[in-house]
Amino acid sequence: MIVLKSAREIEKMQEAGKLLAAIHKEIAKMIKPGITTFEIDEFVESYLKKHGATAEQKGYRGYQYATCASINDEVCHGFPRKEPLKDGDIVTIDMVVNLNGALADSAWSYAVGNVSEEAQKLLDVTKEALYRGIAQAVPGNRIGDIGHAIQTYVEGEGMSVVREFIGHGIGATIHEKPDIPHFGLPGKGVRIKEGMVFTIEPMVNLGEWKTKMDSNGWTARTVDNKLSAQYEHTLAITIDGPIILTDQD
Ligand code: MF3
Ligand code: CO
Repeated sequence: MIVLKSAREIEKMQEAGKLLAAIHKEIAKMIKPGITTFEIDEFVESYLKKHGATAEQKGYRGYQYATCASINDEVCHGFPRKEPLKDGDIVTIDMVVNLNGALADSAWSYAVGNVSEEAQKLLDVTKEALYRGIAQAVPGNRIGDIGHAIQTYVEGEGMSVVREFIGHGIGATIHEKPDIPHFGLPGKGVRIKEGMVFTIEPMVNLGEWKTKMDSNGWTARTVDNKLSAQYEHTLAITIDGPIILTDQD
């Protein structure tokens, strides 16, 4: 069942989204060789606390951290760790903010120091893929239009889109209907309606799209150990098109 949100509910989710966006802007300033993802996780938790919010991921299905921190070939759900980031790494920080019971979800990939040309291109293509998906998130279109726009763009750049992890509706809990695959066929799937709130969060790989699960049971990494990046926003659909609730601008 797809739960449509009222204007008031969307407003509350936007407040959570604004807080999340502010945290990503702080993280952007912190990311450099030598910092650990564990320190970033601690920063996020204390920042949320200071602003009267909580980290929805902590305790979600037994997950232990406020953030997911996925480095290089890690696709998603990496655990924050005490090992310093190195010059040339890329890292995706993903989190869900709960502010007064309203949720927002956003992941952002960061370059650590100087990254290779191909790593930079991966970041650029992944971010552009997110915005091409968002452009399709308008009432009357179908969910397949989003995935199709993302997949054709990414594959046209010689990269691949992860299939095992997808975007999702979000509301009272992190994962609601509808499912939002980042691949697919135009004109297929559920019709997009005013009041829907969902994420678009393409994970893009330099090599093959397939992932494998780590022994920790959470972290997915690329089968060929090539780099993976991800950008995610939470969107509310209005008659005039999508509002990016986690917008950083
Ligand atoms: N933020 C993630 C998403 O985009 C959800 C992570 S669930 C967790 O869907 F348990 F790993 F935190
Ligand atoms: Co997320």
